[in-house]
Amino acid sequence: MLFEPFSLKDVKLRNRIAVSPMCQYSATDGIINDWHVEHLGALARGGSSLVIAEATAVSPEGRITPGCTGLWNDTQAEAFARAVKAIEAHGAVPGIQIAHAGRKASANRPWEGDDHIPEGDARGWQTIGASAVAFGANLPRVPRAMTIDDIERVKADFVAAAIRARDIGFKWLELHFAHGYLAQSFFSHHSNQRDDRYGGSHENRMRFLIETFEAVRAVWPEHLPLTARFGVTEFDGRDETFAESLDLIDRLKERGLDLIDVSIGFTIPKTKIPWGPALVAPFAGRVRREVGIATASTWNISTPELADKVIRDGDVDVVMLGRRLLENPHWPYEAARALGVEKAAWTLPAPYAHWLERYRAA
Ligand SMILES: Cc1cc2nc3c(=O)[nH]c(=O)nc-3n(C[C@H](O)[C@H](O)[C@H](O)COP(=O)(O)O)c2cc1C
Repeated sequence: MLFEPFSLKDVKLRNRIAVSPMCQYSATDGIINDWHVEHLGALARGGSSLVIAEATAVSPEGRITPGCTGLWNDTQAEAFARAVKAIEAHGAVPGIQIAHAGRKASANRPWEGDDHIPEGDARGWQTIGASAVAFGANLPRVPRAMTIDDIERVKADFVAAAIRARDIGFKWLELHFAHGYLAQSFFSHHSNQRDDRYGGSHENRMRFLIETFEAVRAVWPEHLPLTARFGVTEFDGRDETFAESLDLIDRLKERGLDLIDVSIGFTIPKTKIPWGPALVAPFAGRVRREVGIATASTWNISTPELADKVIRDGDVDVVMLGRRLLENPHWPYEAARALGVEKAAWTLPAPYAHWLERYRAA
C-alpha cells in the first residue's frame, strides 16, 4: 500500500512516495542556493517520505551542465546542509544522488539547447568516458578514454562526495549508475570498448561499478541505506542486458546494496522505448523477485491508483515520482484522498491540513 510506512536499515519512511532526483540546473559553481532549498523543502512539505536531491557531481567535470550541483568541496557541502534541514523540518528523509556524467557532461541546460556546449567555448570542458566513443545525436563530443589513474581518481571523488553527504546529515545515498552517465557507460557494450580489465567481458564491464560501490560502502554508515539507480535495459532488442543487470545487482547486493532504483539505460540515442504507464515497474518486479532485494522504480507512475498498484503487485517498495511532484508538490495529499486513506491530514502540516480536512466534505 502506498501509504504504509517502509523501513530500510535505520531509516523509516512515512509512506512509499519518494521524490525522484531532479536536476534544477540552477547552481553556481556547484553551490546550491535559495531556489534549491525552497524546491526541496516544498517537496518535503507536500508529504513525500523521501526527498532525493538531484544528480550532484563528484567533480567539476562530472556535471551535466555548468548549472549542476556538486559535492567536491566544503562550500558546496555547507550550502547543502540548509537543504537537509529544510527537508527534515517537514518530516521527510533527506537523500542525495551523487553522480558523474561522463561523456554526457559539458552540456547546455535543457531549456538552452540540451546539447553539448561546442568545443572551444569556455563554458564547456573536456569530457571523459569509458572509451573515446561519443553518445551522438545532441551530444556529439568525443570523450577522452579514461586511464587507470582517471578511474582511481573518480572512485576517490565518489568516496569524498559520500563522506561530505554523510557529514552534513543526508540519510539516504543513491549512486547514479544509470541514464548513460559514466557508470552506465562502463557497463554498456555500446559505450565501453576497452580492452583492459574494465572492458570487454561482462565481468570486466561491471568492474568500475562494483569497485566504486565497494569504495563508497566502506565510508557510508552501515545503519543508513546505500542505494543505486541503474538502467536494466536499453530497449535495444538485446535481452542479455537485463540478464547481465540481474547479475550486477546481485553482486552489489552481496556487497551491501540496500535497494536498487530500477530505471532505463539511455546509453544510445536510438532506442524503441515503449513509453506507457509504469513501463519500468515490471522490470523492477523481476529484479525484486529474482535477486531478492528492495526496489524502487520510476517513469510514468502518474496516478495514485497506479502507484498503489505497483506496490501491491510486489514490483516495488518505493515509487520514485518526478514530474507529477513538480506539477504539484502536495500530490501525496491528493493521492491519499483519492485512495480513501483515512486521516490523510498527516501528509500535510497542520496549518494546511486542518483547513483541508475541516472542509473536506463541503
Ligand atoms: C527536471 C528533471 C530532472 C531530472 N534529473 C534527474 C537526475 O538528476 N537524476 C536522475 O536519475 N534522474 C533525473 N530525472 C529523471 C527523474 O528522476 C524521473 O526518473 C523521471 O522524470 C521519470 O519519472 P516521472 O515519470 O515521474 O517524471 C529528471 C527528470 C526531470 C523531469
